[in-house]
Amino acid sequence: PTPIILDCDPGHDDAIALVMAHRSKAIDLLGVTVVCGNAEPEKTVSNTLRILEFIGAGDVPVAAGCVRPLARPLVLGTADGPSGLEGSPYLPQATKTVEKLHAVDFIAKTLRERDEPLRIVATGPLCNLGLFVLKYPELLPKIKDITWMGGVFWRKSEIITPTEFNAFCDPEALKIVLDSGVPITMVGLDVTMQVLVEEPQYAEFEKIDSELGRVVLDWLRFYEKLHRDSMGVGGALHDPLALALIIDPTLVRSRPAHIGVDLTGTYTFGATVADFWNERGLPPNAQIAKEVDADRFFDLLYSLLRD
Ligand code: BDR
Ligand code: CA
Repeated sequence: PTPIILDCDPGHDDAIALVMAHRSKAIDLLGVTVVCGNAEPEKTVSNTLRILEFIGAGDVPVAAGCVRPLARPLVLGTADGPSGLEGSPYLPQATKTVEKLHAVDFIAKTLRERDEPLRIVATGPLCNLGLFVLKYPELLPKIKDITWMGGVFWRKSEIITPTEFNAFCDPEALKIVLDSGVPITMVGLDVTMQVLVEEPQYAEFEKIDSELGRVVLDWLRFYEKLHRDSMGVGGALHDPLALALIIDPTLVRSRPAHIGVDLTGTYTFGATVADFWNERGLPPNAQIAKEVDADRFFDLLYSLLRD
């Protein structure tokens, strides 16, 4: 299995990514670092602990991270309700607590303990990873790559924002990570808005006859409603798609480019900008997921919930 650290802000879709990471035999979840974003930091931490306990992964270390973006006040996501995980009546209270180390120090410790470079999946604002780059530049060669859910380029008519929440929430951290030299795979709204949970997918989820299946269905029903209100389409499984690429990178087709992020635009700060035609002559810093095989992604998700 591929060892990873998952940096997240649960969040319903982060929660499903956590479930997938724990249940996939292709992944060894070494730890979870938590960031503010979909809800206040104490809520994203408590959601993480409760989810892990519920799925029998209470022994996975959880480290709490940044409580706000590096250079801006915290703006919360709106897709998950006040607790960040509304619609979860069955989740137990956690019996475990967080590591003593801050998320960035936990990542540093984990990297130092290993000979091989490690892969990181990031499904929230990049506050933790931005801070890590600033604090531990000497450890960057020990990060093999970062698969990041965030950003947007190929806007579809239904996407009304020039930016995407994880980028918008902490664009300075995103810039620091993009400029760090660590290889990045960007899994943006361009592909994640194509993995939508609508009636055909619900029918498949309903066939999964387990407590986990029912909880995931509860999350999805709730998440869909807020998603529809804000984006006009069914629930998009943003973070699970990013996580799935560790298990099966062929789910997407991507192309390399240099990505920058707008930090000053009045209406566009947080917008990701890619130099697809290499007009600025900058070396690519990311592989940008461009097309996704949604059916195969859902088959993978159903199988992880079933088996
Ligand atoms: C991203 O923002 C959050 O609401 C989701 O968890 C996802 O990481 C999508 O824009
Ligand atoms: Ca997220």
